[in-house]
Amino acid sequence: MRAKHLAILEFVLALRKFPQQAFEQPGEILEFLQNNPVMPETLRPYLSWDRQHYTRNLIDKTPLFELIALCWEPGQVSSVHNHRDQNCWMITPTGRLRVENFRTLAQDIAAGTCELAPDETVEMDTDHPCAVDPKEPVHRVVNPKEWNQRAVSVHIYSRPFDTCVVYSPEHGSCGVIQLHYNTAFGRPVKPSSTAP
Ligand code: SIN
Repeated sequence: MRAKHLAILEFVLALRKFPQQAFEQPGEILEFLQNNPVMPETLRPYLSWDRQHYTRNLIDKTPLFELIALCWEPGQVSSVHNHRDQNCWMITPTGRLRVENFRTLAQDIAAGTCELAPDETVEMDTDHPCAVDPKEPVHRVVNPKEWNQRAVSVHIYSRPFDTCVVYSPEHGSCGVIQLHYNTAFGRPVKPSSTAP
């Protein structure tokens, strides 16, 4: 099927039409993303940039999913983290990003300990959306400095979540953090805590 490029508001309307079951496994939404890239210029009202950390910008939120645009300066990287057992899809309307996956060999969140092993690495760009593997969801997103370009990714989380577990594979430690948005529906949100 030939790709049909959607403005972000058309994309939101289309996502809202999917039934609950579509968000319960990766396949159907991933196919929608492969066939319907987002027009990057239509994301502009939602984007914000920070030289210290990538930003998280809420575009839409329903009981079923949240849709967030993430803005990555060259060299910015997320922590290694999970998605609280929620499904996640990612598209990259601008630039490209690397997703580094990890296998969880052991974790004890209450004790703050973990053992992770590096797994496969995936690259995302306009033509290559990605679904996080629900069986091995631990990963980090990287915009390598040497690529020397900004990137914008759009993430669908189902269902919405506002905490996640961050991991230090080097130290074998992990812990729960609160998530925040830099902007919501195009307006700044007062800073409260860190992003992963
Ligand atoms: C992701 O891996 O989905 C990006 C992390 C975030 O939501 O801040």
